[in-house]
Amino acid sequence: MLTRWAVFVSGEGSNLQNILTLESEGELKSQSIELVVANKSCPAIEKAQRYSKNNVVVDFRNPEVWAELLEVLNQAKIDKIFLLGFMKIISSGFIRSWAKPIVNLHPSLLPQYKGLQAIERAFVAKEERMGVSLHEVVAELDSGPILKQAELWRIPGESLEVLTERFHKLEHKLVRDYLLDLDIRP
Ligand code: GAR
Repeated sequence: MLTRWAVFVSGEGSNLQNILTLESEGELKSQSIELVVANKSCPAIEKAQRYSKNNVVVDFRNPEVWAELLEVLNQAKIDKIFLLGFMKIISSGFIRSWAKPIVNLHPSLLPQYKGLQAIERAFVAKEERMGVSLHEVVAELDSGPILKQAELWRIPGESLEVLTERFHKLEHKLVRDYLLDLDIRP
C-alpha cells in the first residue's frame, strides 16, 4: 500500500527539494508526496508548484484553520505528515484529532537545542558534537520519540554559513535514509 505524505514547510525548502528529487527519480517505492502545506508563500511552495504538487498556503494566525486543514488532509487521504523546515508549532488539538503520524526534522541532536535557531546556538556555544534528528511529534515541542539521528563534528575556524551547509547536507541524507528504510520496513 502507498503511504501518502503531506509535507509542511516555511522557508527555502531544500529538504522538500531533496525528497521531490528522490520521488522523481523513482526511488520511493511505496510512498508518495501528495500535498505541500506552507504557512506563507516561500521558495518551498514554489518548488512544490514546479513539481506540480497540490499545495496550500494556510494563515495559521487564525486558530480555526487547524480544523479546516484536517479536512483538507482527510480529503487528500493523507497518511503521514512530514515537517521539513516548518516553523509553526502544531496545535495540540490538531495532534489529538489527526491521530496519525507526524514526523519532524530538527537540526540538533535532540534533546539538545530544542526550539528555534538550533544551528546558530550550537555554533555560538562551540559545540564539538552536533547533529540532526527525526522524531515523532507530540504536544510538547521537539520532544517526541527519536526515529533517527546523525551527527557531525565541529571544524575549528569554520564559518556559520559553511556549518549550516553541512547541516543541510546531513539532513538530506538522514531524510533520504529514513524514507528508503520505510520502503523496506514500513
Ligand atoms: C532545516 O535546517 C530544518 O532542520 C530546520 O529548518 C531548516 C529548513 O531548511 N527546522 C527547524 O528548525 C524546525 N524546528 P529548508 O527550508 O531548506 O528545508
